[in-house]
Amino acid sequence: MGGTDTDGPLWSGRLEGGLHPDVLALTQSLDVDRQLLPYDVAASKAHVRMLGRQGIIPAAEADAIVAALDGVAIDAGAADEDVHSLIERQLVAALGDAGRRVHAGRSRNDQVATAFRLWCRAHAWRVVQRVADLQEALLVLAERDGDAVLPGYTHLQRAQPVPLAHHLAAHAFALQRDIGRLRAAQAAADVSPLGAGALAGSSLPLDPAGVAADLGMADSFANSLDAVSDRDFAADLAYACALCLVHCSRMGEELVLWTSQELAWAALPDDVATGSSMMPQKKNPDVGELARGRAGTAIGRLTGLLAVLKGLPLAYNRDLQEDKQAVFEQVDAVLGVLRLLEFAYAGLVVDRERMRAAAADGTTVATDVAEALVRDGLPFRDAHAEVARRIASGERFTSPTPEEAIAARTGPGMPGAVGDQLARLREHVAESRSLPEPAP
Ligand code: ARG
Repeated sequence: MGGTDTDGPLWSGRLEGGLHPDVLALTQSLDVDRQLLPYDVAASKAHVRMLGRQGIIPAAEADAIVAALDGVAIDAGAADEDVHSLIERQLVAALGDAGRRVHAGRSRNDQVATAFRLWCRAHAWRVVQRVADLQEALLVLAERDGDAVLPGYTHLQRAQPVPLAHHLAAHAFALQRDIGRLRAAQAAADVSPLGAGALAGSSLPLDPAGVAADLGMADSFANSLDAVSDRDFAADLAYACALCLVHCSRMGEELVLWTSQELAWAALPDDVATGSSMMPQKKNPDVGELARGRAGTAIGRLTGLLAVLKGLPLAYNRDLQEDKQAVFEQVDAVLGVLRLLEFAYAGLVVDRERMRAAAADGTTVATDVAEALVRDGLPFRDAHAEVARRIASGERFTSPTPEEAIAARTGPGMPGAVGDQLARLREHVAESRSLPEPAP
């Protein structure tokens, strides 16, 4: 275990003999939770400062421990049970007895919950920023080619003409809801469990509220059992990322369709497309397909995390150790896919002619023709029947044009008023940009 004045894990006083190596391999989580290091260091500093303030440990030793925490790093070949054990081992190695005071009034149960919450708080913010990057790429494309006209679809059958800006804005508004969920997940994580101890607090005069304030967290726990067993914040973040990936998947699917030779409405920039090892002519939209595929895996991770939580008796159970890998991978996946789509949209080459030709096939304005008849006094059902008959007998409408049809639909949220939507989206992006990065 690499300890200097102790051999074996933190809990070795109770049990005799060493841990079987296979059991250590199964229970060990350092490979995953090493990502928590900076967050656990921040939480440990806050805990130690509190111990000093409350007179639980001498002030000079508190200062020494806080300073030593800055020097903690994952050492080569570290074989500790988890990152929390690693930190304590290094403190003891650096400070001797003073390092052995750090864990007063604390358990790894409230420690891991705190570090993981700080990680989730910081990463929810990062995902928000990455979502805003993608929204911005959509807005730039909307400014460049937003007046291109395409048929909107239902059932993947041509329906009514819309400007490209309206279509892109639809994706951007879905992403805006993702930002709302991510911010809610960030807020859910922003509660400090430190002071809850293993499950029932401590008889030492701890100051949980002071620790929470030191960490810049919005609140401290309301119930010590809940504090160490609650992983709602992790599930919230896993869900927010999963649904964001579902949105990305739909965008990815659309890029696959739009760049196929059958539609050929758009081409990916070369540095985002991929080739075939055998077929020289190929330019493949792997980015769209990976967005689709990663959403599938993400749904699995969310389901897996919820399944881990569902049967747990209060309070902490080691099953909870499974939570971090699921959430770390979930966040990695969404950050990666958001970046891929940002590149794809930023460099997308739109074939405006081909798009417009599809929208101007003489059928997509059928509803507008029927509505003109309604304006002349015909009941809509009769107008619908008449236009349907004319379409069935082969008639195609050249009036209104798709552009005229779009311009006539100017209500809020409609395709003719897309400028207002883009303005609103730009405000949303600016707001996301102004959100302060959570420490640490
Ligand atoms: N590695 C553990 C986890 O991730 C830390 C908490 C261990 N607590 C315990 N009582 N064994 O959940």
